[in-house]
Amino acid sequence: MPRSHAAVIDKVLLIAHVLGASVWIGGHVVLLAVVIPQARGQGDVTPVRNFERSFGRIGLAALAVQVVTGPILASRWIGGWPSIFTTPTHPAHLVLAKVALLIAIVVLATHATHRLLPKLSMATLGRFTRHAWLVTLLSVALAIAGVSIRTGWLL
Ligand code: HEM
Repeated sequence: MPRSHAAVIDKVLLIAHVLGASVWIGGHVVLLAVVIPQARGQGDVTPVRNFERSFGRIGLAALAVQVVTGPILASRWIGGWPSIFTTPTHPAHLVLAKVALLIAIVVLATHATHRLLPKLSMATLGRFTRHAWLVTLLSVALAIAGVSIRTGWLL
């Protein structure tokens, strides 16, 4: 039956979206709570470099999953992308907020990859850490906005 077929696809997309969010945010928590303190403890940025080399690809794959599944899920809530500006519903506001947050994250991630990481040293580790905190907080905001689409505002 086509109806239940669509429901299964929606569910698979949502599961992929939640798994992508878990990997993306989880990786950043490990970076902040384990890898950066380890680098500080030994006075050497090698653990950060190794982590970025190994997690970098997985993290980017997880972010790609969000970029693909998010807009498809969003089109179910806003009834087609053109109406996002013409029909200011609660889901439309949150989807717009998510798009803005995603753009900010992509800008920050590009800056980290091309500017911060190649010159990373103990002297610049503080700057890199503030950057990682910002990306993590923006990502948590994306998760809260995502949950709020279905459940309404948090408070
Ligand atoms: C790092 C990026 C992202 C993270 C961490 C993230 C996280 C989440 C989380 C945790 C949920 C809650 C799922 C649930 O309630 O079961 C969610 C839902 C949602 N997200 Fe994202 N998301 C991201 C990117 C995006 C993007 C780029 C879009 C599209 C513009 C998007 C659109 C949605 C929509 C429409 C929902 C509601 C799905 C539903 O309940 O049917 N997300 N997101």
